[in-house]
Amino acid sequence: MIEKIQQLLAEVEQLTAQNAEELEMLRIKYLSKKGAINELMADFRNVPAENKKEVGMKLNELKNRAQEKITALKEAFESQDTGGCDLDLTRTAYPVDLGTRHPLSIVKNEIIDIFSRLGFSIAEGPEVEDDLHVFTSLNFAADHPVRDMQDTFFIESNDTDVTKNVILRTHTSSVQVRAMENSQPPIRIICPGRVYRNEAISYRAHCFFHQIEGLYIDKNVSFADLKQVLLLFAKEMFGAETKIRLRPSYFPFTEPSAEMDISCNICGGKGCPFCKHTGWVEILGCGMVDPNVLEASGIDSKVYSGYAFGMGVERIANLKYQVKDLRLFSENDTRFLKEFEAAN
Ligand code: PHE
Repeated sequence: MIEKIQQLLAEVEQLTAQNAEELEMLRIKYLSKKGAINELMADFRNVPAENKKEVGMKLNELKNRAQEKITALKEAFESQDTGGCDLDLTRTAYPVDLGTRHPLSIVKNEIIDIFSRLGFSIAEGPEVEDDLHVFTSLNFAADHPVRDMQDTFFIESNDTDVTKNVILRTHTSSVQVRAMENSQPPIRIICPGRVYRNEAISYRAHCFFHQIEGLYIDKNVSFADLKQVLLLFAKEMFGAETKIRLRPSYFPFTEPSAEMDISCNICGGKGCPFCKHTGWVEILGCGMVDPNVLEASGIDSKVYSGYAFGMGVERIANLKYQVKDLRLFSENDTRFLKEFEAAN
């Protein structure tokens, strides 16, 4: 009998179980009414009286060990389930690092805020676009060299019909096209979003950046309206003393087109290395929407006119915060991002 007990004891010490069912099988095998230990208990009465004490002690030891072992295995499962085994509720709190808003988000929100006060609502669209919305509907002729103005990333190219090319959008004007297709004037939207251009990455260029473009279409919209809105924006963004100047330019989708400079907000227009000693810095492109563009999206150009403008968020952020290297905006270096804590 002693031998049998020893053998069971050795077995019990080795017990392992992979899951709750296996554990239950073990419990039945050793500890249930008909289990191995109870069977030995039943045999106990046949043990000669002089051995009863020793055998009884051993039997009890076996039973206790088996119970302990099975409880321990059960606890191991339970703590695994809750993952709570190393949760120390008495530990003192440690200082938690708070995140900060990204400088581009701060500037973007500020721009959106200014234009929302002027009645513009936000429109968004896909980053993977077709040629039709990025170029063709915006008056970029299929074989015209003006397409090279924006170095495009192609995802799928279609030899017979360029309008079917699938590309990464090079500007958020594509969102404006979608808005014109889907609604009739008055349309007054701004389109914030990420755009992509195939440029070598350096301190002053990146293969992606962020834009906010605006579009206003209604009856009798004039260049004077455009100029007034942009002046107000410049003063809100860079301070009441900011001046603007418009220089003639060219975009396929606007006529007339202009580029807008603001008086350098770093030297106040006196001339400094930032504005290359001119006193002015360029911040956006704009113009009156070309009638061809309105017609391409189903808007009657004899009834309606409109203006559009577009700016790079990085450019505005640079002017506001004088970030010398554009790459910092996308490297997620927390030392750089922390500097904008106060602006949050
Ligand atoms: N889409 C132009 C660009 O990305 C900017 C622009 C928008 C110019 C609207 C004029 C009018 O360069």
